[in-house]
Amino acid sequence: MPLILKAGTTLVAATHNPGKAKELVALLDGRFEILAAGSLGLPEPDETESTFTGNALLKARHAARQSGQIAIADDSGLSVAALEGSPGIFSARWAGPSKDFAAAMNKVEERIIETGSQDRSAWFTSALAVAWPDGPAVVVEGRVDGQLVFPGRGDRGFGYDPIFVPEGYSLTFGEMDPAGKDAISHRARAFEKLKAALF
Ligand code: IMP
Repeated sequence: MPLILKAGTTLVAATHNPGKAKELVALLDGRFEILAAGSLGLPEPDETESTFTGNALLKARHAARQSGQIAIADDSGLSVAALEGSPGIFSARWAGPSKDFAAAMNKVEERIIETGSQDRSAWFTSALAVAWPDGPAVVVEGRVDGQLVFPGRGDRGFGYDPIFVPEGYSLTFGEMDPAGKDAISHRARAFEKLKAALF
């Protein structure tokens, strides 16, 4: 049987970050009632899988089981070709507990220099998973490819945005206006796939 999400359904967003819950509401065009898992007091699971899709599914399934409601979760990050895909699922963790992305971007640059590679290609990935409390789940992945630049440029985005120039553009994600980034980002591409799969 196909899995369908009806407009107006309540979705539990498996995130303790209120900004992310808000972003999910915006990307879903306000079609659903979104409840943040954090506001329901649901504990966060450890991200123990080795892929973006694995971790997104794990978080969505956990929130669906705990809440008894349909849940949505994401997992995302930056992968660097010269670093064989690192930091990847560890993107947030490279910034440490103080979420120091200037330090994380320096670490990326240092590690690339250490390899001696001239390859600056990289990509962002966003996995999105929706899980039902009785078991079924859907997971999709969106990706945007680009080149890294050092030093980073722009202060409009977050995370690794200042060092990432998407393919076909000359501005970094950190320099682009947010609507421009949203039109081509890994997250937007994942959402398009999710909409095609579920609506
Ligand atoms: P998550 O919350 O475990 O999905 O962590 C994803 C991490 O990847 C974030 O903390 C960011 O550092 C990074 N990341 C994901 N998407 C983006 C983006 O669009 N721009 C910049 N950094 C991103």
